[in-house]
Amino acid sequence: MLKRLHFTIFYNRITSSSKMALLMLGVLVYPCQAYAMDWAERALERISKPPLGLPRLVQTEKNEVTKDRIILGRKLFYDKRLSRNSSVSCASCHLPERGFADNDQPRAIGFNGRRSRRNAPTLLNVAYMRTLFHDGRDNQLATQILGPFLDKNEMANPSAGWLVQTVNGLEDYWGKFEKAFGEVANINNIGKAIAAYEQTLLSANSPFDKYWYGKDKSAIGPAAIRGLKLFRGRAGCARCHKIGKYSALFIDHRFHDTGTGSKDDSGRKEVTGRLKDINRFKTPTLRNIALTAPYIHDGRFETLGEVVRFYNRGPVATLPALGLSETQQNDLVAFLESLTGDNIAELISEAKGAHRQND
Ligand code: HEC
Ligand code: HEC
Repeated sequence: MLKRLHFTIFYNRITSSSKMALLMLGVLVYPCQAYAMDWAERALERISKPPLGLPRLVQTEKNEVTKDRIILGRKLFYDKRLSRNSSVSCASCHLPERGFADNDQPRAIGFNGRRSRRNAPTLLNVAYMRTLFHDGRDNQLATQILGPFLDKNEMANPSAGWLVQTVNGLEDYWGKFEKAFGEVANINNIGKAIAAYEQTLLSANSPFDKYWYGKDKSAIGPAAIRGLKLFRGRAGCARCHKIGKYSALFIDHRFHDTGTGSKDDSGRKEVTGRLKDINRFKTPTLRNIALTAPYIHDGRFETLGEVVRFYNRGPVATLPALGLSETQQNDLVAFLESLTGDNIAELISEAKGAHRQND
């Protein structure tokens, strides 16, 4: 009370131009502070109310997402010290400014420059994936982390125990696992924390969403509108890259042979051992696809135009040639380009916060 009185007296004494300056400073400083403090809160809010075009997020993993877990997960995700020679983090291959994928490498490069067999997929909207990896060999974000942490081509930790020991040995983690999970770091809660952060990477409310779900007729141009019609109709894309009544993930949670398999990679068959799964790969989301070149599990195509031409030629018997004109193929590309979410800059800026924290 006394403080407020003092402030009022002080405030009344200063000139009006200084008042204006003070006010301006407040306007400038306040959002920065709110931003720095509340990114995790806003990320939590995003999970409870996903952007337009995404379905409700059902948390199938018994992984209650909390603010402390998101903050810890982000720290782990961007921490290179968690690889064998402190050179690789999750973000080395899932780069925030490249749609949480990697545009430079058709196939991911990790520990000691070793090349993985496959292209790093986007982690945007990964929370909705019922299976993980191009061949669906895992189905929980919290356990999936063991793959990259231990893979000798990725982060190359010799064992899970080694990784836990590394984390427990880093002073800047002390107390953080206790706060988030009520226990010291172990392989389960490391996974849960990273999964919590990954679940915040939701992006939609794209021009397409505004047009289709938001009924804003001017949100996309005529080429994209024609492309959408082809996508759902004659080109048959939406059979697998599904668009629902209230939301769209552009996936069907299934595996298909679209003529992309090879001697080196037979996809789903490697997991199930069943001959019928040969050359089948998981249907990837097409949201934010303009940001995540190159395309297909091995990154063989650099542009969306190449992917569309590939489908147009009729790659396998079950996907016969489409006979689309050059303009129609360009229309499909224009549609695919309308799927970029409107909060990408925000997600990148949240990621940058982690770098500041780890430096
Ligand atoms: C060396 C590059 C590299 C690093 C480092 C890396 N990843 Fe990946 N990530 C990949 C590749 C390549 C795939 C696809 C592999 C496959 O399908 O067999 C993948 C797949 C994934 C998937 C499955 C996505 C989907 O839609 O199926 C998730 C989730 C994921 N990574 C998270 C992580 C996390 C968390 C870390 C850090 C602990 C990490 N990655 C580190 C390259 C990398
Ligand atoms: C039978 C199901 C099916 C149909 C129909 C289909 N797709 Fe796909 N699509 C897939 C699968 C499966 C993959 C992954 C292939 C791989 O990685 O080897 C894929 C990959 C893609 C990719 C690359 C995604 C990435 O992140 O690398 C694009 C783009 C794409 N499809 C667009 C289209 C378009 C446009 C059409 C219509 C002309 C279409 N798809 C029709 C199943 C389908």
